[in-house]
Amino acid sequence: MNILAIETSCDETAIALVEFCQKKQKNSLEIKILADKIASQIEIHAPYGGVVPRLAAREHIKNLSQIFKEILKNNKEKTSDFMKKIDLVAVTSGPGLMPCLLTGTSFAKALAYKYKIKITGINHLEAHLFSSLLSQSSTINLQRLKFPALGLIVSGGHTELILVKAIGEYELIGETLDDAAGEAFDKVARLLELGYPGGPAVEKVAKNGNEDKFKLPRPMIGSPDYNFSFSGLKTAVLYKIKDYQGKSKIVKENQKLLNRIKADMAASFQKAVVETLIKKTGKAIKEFNIKTLLVGGGVLANNQLREELKILSERVKTNLILPNKRYCGDNAAMIALAAYLNYCQDKDYSWQELKVNSNLGF
Ligand code: KG4
Ligand code: ZN
Repeated sequence: MNILAIETSCDETAIALVEFCQKKQKNSLEIKILADKIASQIEIHAPYGGVVPRLAAREHIKNLSQIFKEILKNNKEKTSDFMKKIDLVAVTSGPGLMPCLLTGTSFAKALAYKYKIKITGINHLEAHLFSSLLSQSSTINLQRLKFPALGLIVSGGHTELILVKAIGEYELIGETLDDAAGEAFDKVARLLELGYPGGPAVEKVAKNGNEDKFKLPRPMIGSPDYNFSFSGLKTAVLYKIKDYQGKSKIVKENQKLLNRIKADMAASFQKAVVETLIKKTGKAIKEFNIKTLLVGGGVLANNQLREELKILSERVKTNLILPNKRYCGDNAAMIALAAYLNYCQDKDYSWQELKVNSNLGF
């Protein structure tokens, strides 16, 4: 089955063509990523320190046709011949920024309508969950995916723990009550004047910092539920910085000291976020007797989080499926995989059925 997937929920424009071949007896799934393009908009949004939805939508319009043309060019086929090979068009239909979702779904619907191909809307969060199963060319042993599984999604817009009873059977057991973890990384990067996007910038300077230098809170770490809160942590960073700004003369005149403070703050902040995520994830693994831990989202590119997840999974003897860094952030290959895993013969896959929901959840 060949799936053409489109992702435009935030600031990445992505199109992928993925071939799936399932071997029934062995329960193994062969995945070949035949095309996988991502156009990033970092430069457009960097001056604003965050994604501007209308600018993002305008860029998606431009990028979609451009990267689709590149894919066609690489295939050296006529568009109609190329489209004949596609069995299903999959497109992110939520959650995300409404103007951005509308550009992607309109583009996808136009293709489906013109070339008479089935089309399906995909939950971006569900796709992040399964992104950990992807690599350039791979065979997944579906038997490795034992249930109940726990999903941990940590991105710029979401921080969620999901109980996965089976593919398609989800229960949201915890989420952030305010800022998402990635959003906190971005805001702290802004406070420390490290640039955009914040996550990679914080991680980079944190390497040279002392993670125990600043005592930062771990909001809700001991609460009996599985919810998170990261906005208080960001405010704590702000106050600590203000403390230092009180001594601004000393700091500003000494660039070396300023860099040290930033590194220590970034490291202390990163430790606080990672510790909180690990604590709640570990608690859920025990309570729900979890067999597989699926993780996804942009923040999973963070090395400290990846290492701590490995340590946790060994300690609690759960099979951790960690995504390749290429597939942590937004991409279209994960949209194709979610579409394949959810595919069922008797569903109505007409373009009229496709609805956009910017608040879509589990
Ligand atoms: O999943 P994603 O690409 O987009 C959303 O769906 O939100 O996640 C983007 C988020 C941003 O907040 C970014 O700062 C964060 O992921 N991020 C990181 C790292 N790389 C990206 N956070 C911490 N460490 C990183 N290395
Ligand atoms: Zn995402």
